[in-house]
Amino acid sequence: ARIRHYNFDVRYEFKFPDCYQKLVITVNGVSPGPTIVAQQGDTVVVDVTNDLGTENLAIHWHGIRQRGTPWSDGTEGVTQCPILPGETFTYKFVVDRAGTYLYHAHYGMQREAGLYGMIRVALPDGVSEPFAYDYDRSIILNDWYHNSTYEQAAGLSSIPFVWVGEPKSLLIHGRGRFNCSSLGTTSSVAGLCNSTNPECSPYVMTVVPGKKYRLRVASLTALSALSFEIEGHNLTVVEADGNYVEPFTVKNLFIYSGETYSVLVTANQDPSRNYWITTNVVSRKPATPTGLGVFNYYPNHPRRRPPTDPTSGPPWNDTAPRLAQSLAIKAKQGYIHTPPLTSDRVIVFLNTQNKINGYFHWSVNNVSFTLPQTPYLIALKKGLLNAFNQTPPPDGYDFLNYPIFKVANNTNATSSNSIYKLKFNTTIDVILQNANSMTPDTSETHPWHLHGHDFWVLGYGQGKFDFNNDPKKYNLANPIMKNTVPVHPYGWTALRFQSDNPGVWSFHCHIESHFYMGMGVVFEEGVEKVGELPSSIMAKAQKASTAREVIGGS
Ligand code: C2O
Ligand code: CU
Repeated sequence: ARIRHYNFDVRYEFKFPDCYQKLVITVNGVSPGPTIVAQQGDTVVVDVTNDLGTENLAIHWHGIRQRGTPWSDGTEGVTQCPILPGETFTYKFVVDRAGTYLYHAHYGMQREAGLYGMIRVALPDGVSEPFAYDYDRSIILNDWYHNSTYEQAAGLSSIPFVWVGEPKSLLIHGRGRFNCSSLGTTSSVAGLCNSTNPECSPYVMTVVPGKKYRLRVASLTALSALSFEIEGHNLTVVEADGNYVEPFTVKNLFIYSGETYSVLVTANQDPSRNYWITTNVVSRKPATPTGLGVFNYYPNHPRRRPPTDPTSGPPWNDTAPRLAQSLAIKAKQGYIHTPPLTSDRVIVFLNTQNKINGYFHWSVNNVSFTLPQTPYLIALKKGLLNAFNQTPPPDGYDFLNYPIFKVANNTNATSSNSIYKLKFNTTIDVILQNANSMTPDTSETHPWHLHGHDFWVLGYGQGKFDFNNDPKKYNLANPIMKNTVPVHPYGWTALRFQSDNPGVWSFHCHIESHFYMGMGVVFEEGVEKVGELPSSIMAKAQKASTAREVIGGS
């Protein structure tokens, strides 16, 4: 095993990802940031320097379980104090299995300002993948706004509420296209939006006819659920969130924020032309143009326009094919980790939108999550009982009486920074239950992401979860393990995981504004088994008080 050392210089720069000028958070000058490449068992060391000037920072390594290093998870308020402007913070963790993972900012709504990238972990020498391919490529899909994360965050926490709205464009590996002419033709617009800027020329994937490609596709959208297609080509799904999938083939891949997939695609179509790579919004009424890239058959010119019109994707409001894809994802034969057949604790998480004191929130069991000032990991290790609310949040709600298909009366919703304490090394079931939002006839897709673990996906269903019958239908034979999973509109998703990773772990909706509005929880497990915390995760004042404790004075 090797050490893979990266230096990340994080700063704001003016960029034109979709031809429109925006202040973008870059890593070493680019967004998406550099891909971290490592081999299973390697130790990744990332020295992150915060050059944002006036803004804090934290970076989360999404899908990496951080066994033995919970302080390197990068979740501000949970596992560390933020990295202050001018400071350098060292993340150090082992990548203990091969697969496709991500990294992104985990402070405020910074992720959607452009701080994101991919982590590719290769198998150990001498071990091969259970599928063959000639080349390995990766892309991250994203949605893009023109106003700043501050405008968005301020709007979400204002009365009257200002919703972030639909994204201006969809980016394929950092490249999209906003229609500059929609802004008029004044000279001020000319500098602000420039459709000939090379930064917004479409993403091109050049392929050699007859060759087979492993394409790693990830989504880090702020809001959107996406469909993804390569015109005229089948996509065979072989990996999901770092776990092998029993292969199945789709024309169109649905992907939610926080998910990664590997698909195999063979360049087996008419090689005399190029094809569109398209991504479209689903699950919300789209108001964003199709994201476009070019699947370029060598030796055609990469800028040669495909002769066809790009597809606008599947109907946005048809949940059935999306649920069908979710149900099709099973662990690959020969790579199945079977789950325990029973669980020790079942926690139901009802997802609702609420108003609290006139402000819009998202809640879980009528509790809207807020972050404490002192990160939980530090508070728990140091026994700082005043750092957060010690009353545990509820394991469920008045399930039988809750009207999931209606705009419900959630007037008793509250905010809290309390957490779920899990008995160490037990089996936990989580039932995520969706419901109607505060808009009539509206239920959104929420992609839930768990830090520090993979979970087994035991089942999905529509309507209200049935405690008597639905558990009998759980897939206990070959469930896929994932770290991010959608909860479909008006539906439920059942997960199982083991509380075997000492630390404090977020579990939240990966939609940036939903998490910001409180759609998340925190699990603690085995925190007494966590080794001594590095002082770098503490803010200066805490470091000083720790030093006083050590020398025995105050
Ligand atoms: Cu990728 Cu807590 O998120
Ligand atoms: Cu959500």
